[in-house]
Amino acid sequence: MSTIDRDLRVGMVGYAFMGAAHSQAWRTVNRVYDLPARVRMSLICGRDESKVADAADRLGWEAYTTDWRRLVESDEVDVVDICTPGDSHCEIAIAALAAGKHVLCEKPLANTVDEARQMVAAAARARADGVRAMCGFNYRRVPAVTMMRQLVADGRLGVIRHVRAAYLQDWIVDPQFPLVWRLQKDRAGSGALGDIGAHIIDLTQYVTGQLITGVSAVTETFVKERPLPAGSSGLAAQADGHGRATGPVTVDDAAVFVARLDGGALATYEASRFATGRKNALRVEINGSLGTVVFDLERLNELEFYDATRPAAEQGFTRILVTEGEHPYMSAWWPPGHIIGYEHSFTHQMRDFVEAVATGTDPAPSFADALQVQLVLDAVARSAELGSCWTEVELALADVAA
Ligand SMILES: NC(=O)c1ccc[n+]([C@@H]2O[C@H](COP(=O)([O-])OP(=O)(O)OC[C@H]3O[C@@H](n4cnc5c(N)ncnc54)[C@H](O)[C@@H]3O)[C@@H](O)[C@H]2O)c1
Repeated sequence: MSTIDRDLRVGMVGYAFMGAAHSQAWRTVNRVYDLPARVRMSLICGRDESKVADAADRLGWEAYTTDWRRLVESDEVDVVDICTPGDSHCEIAIAALAAGKHVLCEKPLANTVDEARQMVAAAARARADGVRAMCGFNYRRVPAVTMMRQLVADGRLGVIRHVRAAYLQDWIVDPQFPLVWRLQKDRAGSGALGDIGAHIIDLTQYVTGQLITGVSAVTETFVKERPLPAGSSGLAAQADGHGRATGPVTVDDAAVFVARLDGGALATYEASRFATGRKNALRVEINGSLGTVVFDLERLNELEFYDATRPAAEQGFTRILVTEGEHPYMSAWWPPGHIIGYEHSFTHQMRDFVEAVATGTDPAPSFADALQVQLVLDAVARSAELGSCWTEVELALADVAA
């Protein structure tokens, strides 16, 4: 029988892709990890009543509402989990924090730096009352990625010289793919840059413990007009736009930039939705004076490690299967070699968030860490507009080394 005497009642806004991923993690987290609080999936919100009712039933939520303001004000909610497009993150998060609710907000934190700053200020005010806020950069919690950071922090790579990061997708290669919200600047803030570029910015800053200080960028919108969407608005929408009215694509399809990190490393970043054949290919390589580590999301249980301190005759890339009980997050799962997947990163995210909220500590990445990512996104967009002009990144309050 459970000995946990504290419930953490979650209210989640949005029930599609991330809503489903987060629901799975909220459902699972207490069954896998020993935590100081028990999650209750109290309330889910979506704008369409029949769809949100169906989602509540399918995903395991106790009740539903069609108005996020009611969710934020509800006495049945301690945590607000924001799984909506970026245009609503700021308003929902600030209202939730003002109502004394802990907040988990999907990435990117906001659509603009100004909104992200407002959210950081709201989180700082709420923190004085013990209210916690975190941004959902889930890839930090893939065990191999967390282990990468540990190797860097333990000095196993020596001085970091290069960071090479790419996040590649191909879901809009077809010009008939409809103009979904991710292709509209007022809804998404930016395109490939903020959607998937944000992930590799956060991941590389987290792994290296270093911040990006300046960038030179190019961005491109390869297909400038697309058919207006008919039905589904998510990543799974079909290229079904033949013959329909069109509208302008107002975000980047791809962003490529070089950067400097504050520890002296040079970095390259590539984020594209036009990498034909690449479905969700996130790859990061870090070269240091003593070694190299490589992570590839399509082989997420593995880490490649080259240890240059070994005798010359034994040097070579070692494939580490990151499934041992000693590896981050893994002791609660299966016997060694019994691999895990994408969805587990969200369970790990909820584990750390629940632990922090229940013990009164600050979860990471904080809104300030996420603002720092937003400042990089902004610098990349400005650099691209100015013909790749070198653009410094303002330093906010992020503490990626913490
Ligand atoms: N961490 C990750 O790996 C990851 C992956 C995908 C998306 N995301 C992020 O998650 C967020 C949501 O993306 P998604 O792919 O789930 O989008 P989606 O289109 O699949 O789902 C969006 C949901 O928000 C709901 N919604 C929109 N506006 C709303 C409003 N005003 N009130 C209530 N509900 C509203 C929609 O009905 C839908 O249920 C975005 O910020 C995105 O960048 C993160």
